Amino acid sequence: MDTHLHDLMEFLRIPSISAQSSHAKEMTRCAQWLVTKLKVAGLDASLHNTGGFPVVIGKSHNLQASQPTVLIYGHYDVQPPEPFEEWLSPPFEPEIREGRIYARGATDNKGQILAHILGVQETIQREGIAGLPCNVIFLIEGEEEIGSPSLHRFLEVHRSELKPDIIVISDTGMVKHGVPTLTYALRGVAALEFVVHGPSHDLHSGVYGGAVVNPLTVAARLVASLHDSSWRVAIPGFYDAVRDLEKWECDIKSIISDADIIEQTDAPALDGEAGYNVIERIGARPTAEVNGMGGGYQGEGTKTVLPKQAFVKLTFRLVPNQDPTQILELAETHLRAQCPKGVRLEIHQGHSGPAYFFDPQSTYGKAAQIALKKAFHQEPILCREGGSIPILQSLKSVLEADSLLLALASPDCRAHSPNENFPLENFQMGIRLNQILLKEIANLRFRGDIPPEDIAQVSHIC
Ligand code: BES
Ligand code: MN
Repeated sequence: MDTHLHDLMEFLRIPSISAQSSHAKEMTRCAQWLVTKLKVAGLDASLHNTGGFPVVIGKSHNLQASQPTVLIYGHYDVQPPEPFEEWLSPPFEPEIREGRIYARGATDNKGQILAHILGVQETIQREGIAGLPCNVIFLIEGEEEIGSPSLHRFLEVHRSELKPDIIVISDTGMVKHGVPTLTYALRGVAALEFVVHGPSHDLHSGVYGGAVVNPLTVAARLVASLHDSSWRVAIPGFYDAVRDLEKWECDIKSIISDADIIEQTDAPALDGEAGYNVIERIGARPTAEVNGMGGGYQGEGTKTVLPKQAFVKLTFRLVPNQDPTQILELAETHLRAQCPKGVRLEIHQGHSGPAYFFDPQSTYGKAAQIALKKAFHQEPILCREGGSIPILQSLKSVLEADSLLLALASPDCRAHSPNENFPLENFQMGIRLNQILLKEIANLRFRGDIPPEDIAQVSHIC
């Protein structure tokens, strides 16, 4: 475990922040670090330049036609660490406190993807490359946190070398700490920014207020126009393609309550789209979120100014069947229709990726359930989650393979927040789970299918 922790610390010390162009060099350094790590683990590894940040590929030698091929996807880029002052230890100086490692990327996604690499490394060190029960291909990108703009094209170009039977991903969260979780649906995401332009320069709000329309007021009005009073999204057509929950999903009782979400977030109370419980609102209903908004005077004290412009950053979370491009068009039409005269509205549509849905009772889904049960000694929970991995649908359409989402993060790992962390027991569990899962997937081919007595009885959904 000591050398594994040393590896994790080295990985976490590289500030691979994809959203900030000043970190481009660190992105390449991180990709190179991974290539070296994959080689040490016993794989063939290569770095591939794209129009954006490099993609890293690691493959077991001499792929065997008789064995299934498993592609393990992950990302080495991390979210920006700000606000720095809220971190108890610096985000790129990993520190272990009370059994958890604290650093940006500890859970999302460096700790989780490294656990899989080390799982494969342990197998190869113990039994040689022939001991790997499956052909393994690692695909680790550096642009997940910015919507994977280069990866679809990369998949198309490298389709034949990458084509797997099944994809394995640990970039999701367990429903509760230590509870094995198979995520069978993730929401999609679509980003949009707008700028409200008013006068050519900031004005004295006494001299011109009342004559000139205030861009910040318009921005606030436009944001308010996104929802009605029962928190339904008020963009015409937004819900047209949304499907109801599947029948089997409704039959199973949730194990997550409002109290759990309040405990995780410290929010004073919960509220959201009327008519749906909290789990449905997170996993199965689309939303509109304001991620940032600004303009005008932000400093100390008052300043009587009528600002020349205001900006808003939005993301929509989407559910299966909603088309991100169409949603962005609907949103743009709505904002333009709601915008009063006296300002100019500039809209930029950003990255997007559709929702993902996968049948957890498929053959591979059952293998994942069995592996989770064997690793955790507990029945796994099936779950829809609210986060997004925008490339999932491209992996499905280009590589024609489903993705098994096996969570290694716990709800209190604080992904995207200050004091992000990864429990060392989750790290260890991930290394174990990788080895058990590859065996289960190999067994499928060996047995043709799974004997019914091995199929986990899944009694809960969340
Ligand atoms: N690991 C997350 C996705 C995730 C989070 C899945 C929680 C399930 C539960 C991933 O790294 C992520 O944060 N994705 C971004 C994508 C976006 C920036 C395009 C997201 O969901 O905000
Ligand atoms: Mn993330």
